[in-house]
Amino acid sequence: MTHAYRRMPEVHLDDIMLRTLRKEDVNDMYDYGSDPEVTRFLNWGPFTDIKEAKWAIKHVFFKRLRRQLPIGYAIIDVKTSKMIGTIDFHSKMEGRNGAEIGFALHRAYWHQGIMTKAVKAMIPLGFDHLGYDVIIVKHLKANAASQRVIEKNGFLYLGSEPFSLQKKHHRIDDEMMIYHMTKEMYHGHPSRERNL
Ligand SMILES: CC(C)(COP(=O)(O)OP(=O)(O)OC[C@H]1O[C@@H](n2cnc3c(N)ncnc32)[C@H](O)[C@@H]1OP(=O)(O)O)[C@@H](O)C(=O)NCCC(=O)NCCS
Repeated sequence: MTHAYRRMPEVHLDDIMLRTLRKEDVNDMYDYGSDPEVTRFLNWGPFTDIKEAKWAIKHVFFKRLRRQLPIGYAIIDVKTSKMIGTIDFHSKMEGRNGAEIGFALHRAYWHQGIMTKAVKAMIPLGFDHLGYDVIIVKHLKANAASQRVIEKNGFLYLGSEPFSLQKKHHRIDDEMMIYHMTKEMYHGHPSRERNL
């Protein structure tokens, strides 16, 4: 039997499509991953050499299968076939049957509702396809766009923890805001559970 995380379906959402990330996506990933505005609130980047994008695909995304996680989706602009971002379950939760969602999008595609739509598609994939009990998502307090995407998708705010990171060109000193959705919430039963 093949595990569900190894056979993630293609998802067609009008003008975008989600399909598993490929080696050939390296140039497109470098394109948005080298933009400091895109990576401002992320724990990686900006890329300054295409080798970093190559490394990320091989050592971050492809290695997920070893942790029983899907490789991760490339977000594709259907009209041009350009890969414009990623959305993925990047980390398993400790001690619970769940994972954390992450996402990033090329700046030229911001403010069009794309990531709200992509996150919406990931929720049934997490609960129905992968069988999770809970999905976690986090954003830095200063990242208002990410906050909106998370709120619009009905995640419940749990609390925050301090977050600091020295990046290539700047230092982040902020708060990490943590949200979840339980399978009970997904099935229409709001969960009272607020434990992290
Ligand atoms: C966060 C990100 C994925 C959002 O993608 P997107 O496709 O532009 O998001 P959407 O268009 O679906 O929704 C964005 C929402 O945030 C709002 N928003 C955008 N910038 C904002 C800002 N500076 N302040 C307040 N709200 C903002 C938009 O108005 C929209 O909300 P609305 O529909 O209620 O008007 C994108 O900005 C990105 O890739 N950022 C860099 C990577 C990143 O930070 N990833 C998340 C890490 S937690």
